[in-house]
Amino acid sequence: MSSKTPVGILGATGTVGQRFIQLLERHPWFEVVWLAASDRSAGKLYTEACRWRLNTPLPTPIASMKVSPATPEGAPKLIFAALDSHAATELEPKFADAGCAVVSNSSSFRTQADVPLVIPEVNGDHIELLRTQAWYKKNGGFIVTNPNCSAIGLVMALCPLHHRFGVEKVFVATMQAVSGAGYPGVASLDILGNVIPYIAGEEQKMEAESRKLLGKLNGNSIVPADVTVSAHCNRVPVEDGHTESVSIKLARQAQSEEIIAAWNEFRCVAQKLKLPSAPEQPVIYDPAPDRPQPRLDINRGAGMSAVVGRLRPCNLFDWRFTVLSHNTIRGAAGAALLNGELLKAQGYIT
Ligand SMILES: NC(=O)c1ccc[n+]([C@@H]2O[C@H](COP(=O)([O-])OP(=O)(O)OC[C@H]3O[C@@H](n4cnc5c(N)ncnc54)[C@H](OP(=O)(O)O)[C@@H]3O)[C@@H](O)[C@H]2O)c1
Repeated sequence: MSSKTPVGILGATGTVGQRFIQLLERHPWFEVVWLAASDRSAGKLYTEACRWRLNTPLPTPIASMKVSPATPEGAPKLIFAALDSHAATELEPKFADAGCAVVSNSSSFRTQADVPLVIPEVNGDHIELLRTQAWYKKNGGFIVTNPNCSAIGLVMALCPLHHRFGVEKVFVATMQAVSGAGYPGVASLDILGNVIPYIAGEEQKMEAESRKLLGKLNGNSIVPADVTVSAHCNRVPVEDGHTESVSIKLARQAQSEEIIAAWNEFRCVAQKLKLPSAPEQPVIYDPAPDRPQPRLDINRGAGMSAVVGRLRPCNLFDWRFTVLSHNTIRGAAGAALLNGELLKAQGYIT
């Protein structure tokens, strides 16, 4: 009998669901015992229901597991959720209501007042907000979310600067990978040799989520940070990895060495607690003039670090730089896994 915490994956067949399976394969604390997806997949063996798209083999014990219907009956208490957002809106509250800890990737509840939107390195203290949820008070169930895949890299780069110098204004233009759209995602004829200057709802998510993430927990609510963010989101023909060009205005003047030190020295609760999925260095500054690049830098920190480069003065604001993060690891499954580990370390999951 395993001493690990049993976990389930909702939306196990999709792009993010597959990443969960990959990242959980040899996890020291958690063991996958339950997989669920839509009616199209329920009742099939996982290997039949899923088109495995990752470059590591599908773990043998998972391949022969049967996909369950997406209902709480028979599900374990800890659920990593990677559902399409329409399905998440309907299903995640049912699991929380049944007493499950739902650690969600979907946008459905990220900006709801009583739902923590958490990056452990940035705002791990916001997790306490889950105590205000009606489900938690009723039977210990709750929903905790991680941010949008393009907001996470941006906010990891902004957080250490916000703490030391105050960030007042942000302009960001993204170059987002196709895997960010799930599978099969964008048609190849639409994206090959092309740039699509529109991702539905993405700019609004980046702007609202950044303010909530950098905000302060005040009693039972979050006071959003007073940061103005203007986001321009683009889909580009890159497989994995969102690259972002960023300009910032700071409240207090800073030298480039101070900014680079703030990034490289940034450590938080996830590193102090030595959570299994926490990168040693959450933000890495690369001084090379032509980095970061998705193909070369996406797996730094096992895909959990944000890589920053090209810091230079900005003609509009104070400073400009480039940030890269892995959208399905740091921006999705890895982010949720780290939140699950923080919840476990802090006793919210037994
Ligand atoms: N891809 C990324 O980089 C990324 C990053 C951050 C956040 N997210 C968010 O994570 C979530 C999953 O994204 P994804 O890219 O993995 O999408 P995806 O590849 O389209 O997978 C969606 C998953 O949801 C399941 N599903 C759909 N409708 C369902 C229903 N009615 N009931 C139960 N299950 C249902 C699908 O099951 P079937 O296979 O049976 O249809 C599949 O397992 C989305 O909310 C997305 O916005 C994605």
